[in-house]
Amino acid sequence: MQEIKFYSGENIPLELHKTRIVQKLHLVPIERRLEALYEGGFNTFRLSTKDVFLDMLTDSGTNAMSDEQLASMMHADDAYAGSQSFVRLHKAVQDVLGKKYLLPVHQGRAAENIISKAYIRKGNLIPMNYHFTTAMAHITENGGKIAELLYDEAYVMNSSHPFKGNMNIEKLEEIIKLNGAKNIPYIRMEASTNLIGGQPFSVQNLRDVRSLADKYGIRLVLDASLLGENAYLVLEREEEFKDSNIGEVIKVMTGMADLVYFSARKLSSSRGGGICTDSEEIYKELEAFVPLFEGFLTYGGISVREIESMAVGLYETLDETVISQSPSFIKYLVDDLDKAGISVVKPAGVLGAHVNAMDFCSHIPQTEYPAGSLAAALFLISGIRGMERGSISNQRDEYGNETYADMELLRLAVPRRVFTLSQIMFVADRLKWLHENKNLIGGLKFNYEPPVLRFFMGGLEPVNDWPQKLMAKFKEDFGDSL
Ligand SMILES: Cc1ncc(COP(=O)(O)O)c(C=O)c1O
Repeated sequence: MQEIKFYSGENIPLELHKTRIVQKLHLVPIERRLEALYEGGFNTFRLSTKDVFLDMLTDSGTNAMSDEQLASMMHADDAYAGSQSFVRLHKAVQDVLGKKYLLPVHQGRAAENIISKAYIRKGNLIPMNYHFTTAMAHITENGGKIAELLYDEAYVMNSSHPFKGNMNIEKLEEIIKLNGAKNIPYIRMEASTNLIGGQPFSVQNLRDVRSLADKYGIRLVLDASLLGENAYLVLEREEEFKDSNIGEVIKVMTGMADLVYFSARKLSSSRGGGICTDSEEIYKELEAFVPLFEGFLTYGGISVREIESMAVGLYETLDETVISQSPSFIKYLVDDLDKAGISVVKPAGVLGAHVNAMDFCSHIPQTEYPAGSLAAALFLISGIRGMERGSISNQRDEYGNETYADMELLRLAVPRRVFTLSQIMFVADRLKWLHENKNLIGGLKFNYEPPVLRFFMGGLEPVNDWPQKLMAKFKEDFGDSL
């Protein structure tokens, strides 16, 4: 872990990089933040960055890029076909992910579209450790269903289990026997399961999944969007790998998958995505979809400049000081909130800190979206934009009924090397104040609900005038301070 012992005795996650390009932020008055919430339908996706102070919505496409990444963009080879930028990216994929073939796509969900179109038929089942919103939407769009097979420990908020993203192996075999291997085109493993708090799986667990996949002749698909961080936590938490490096762990993991896909917005701090495999047969099965949906096979809808930065970003994934920066800030924030009695997903994972909204807002029923309400309330009192990862992010079932999430989380993403430690301290400070005043937070209801991925553009409104009351209390306590 990137922690330095201070003379005071404290371990501090000291930044091992320097800032060379900066962007001005806006901390606007609370009255403006209230207006912005109404304009944006109490949905943090619909806020304008002009009104946002700390943007903790996501780490997707928001990680800081390195000087080497930016420099690499200058020698991009602008060609529709046969670009040397693609040659460099292909080499990086072979070196870092250890896979022979690469199909470039414009981002992670484009890979999900192609894999689902190629392999899913009506009635198929895709077992997975846990779903990601876009992965599930593509599977159901193509007539498939998902089965989430985590161990019970994964749903325990205050846990010390090192690998809450592990696939439940016993349940996996049961499900395969019940549904028949021919109805299961692939098993999906997501590195650092996004929706349950950025929790990793172990290499041993992946080996167990692989042996069941072999036993029943089923493909294994690895969503590698957050693979670097998962590999980093394997180094920290899995005895067998304590003397290994990130690159070695990444290759052990990708080596077990028939197909690896990723969002480069996360994995390599750039834009874009990819599908890779060692199998010529799989490559051929997917190849035709790329020119149809994405672009020619040597750019896949990605600008060549971004392709260059993807290649450099992939190599930088091997640098522990790059990959450990976000998890060490997350751990600092999680520990601080935990000490203050705020329920958070533990152990600290990757991607962000995850606040337990079901506990924070225990007075708000799930029908009134406690995680969405907490996201709106935190923005109002601080300008910090987090993301609801609860029932609003769920999709309705096939009969149109609301489905409630296993966990109601407010995710506060910590993109790589973007924030300073005093900004993280501000996040903790404002959350502590809000916790003291939590009874002033009220629920939300939809006034506009899109049929697919409703959390992106959906519109909500407060059930009463709780935002005004919360604002009044903030002004009472903080006076003119922003
Ligand atoms: C685990 C996981 N898979 C897939 C995706 C989709 O990637 P993209 O946003 O690039 O389409 C994401 C994005 O956040 C993700 O976290």
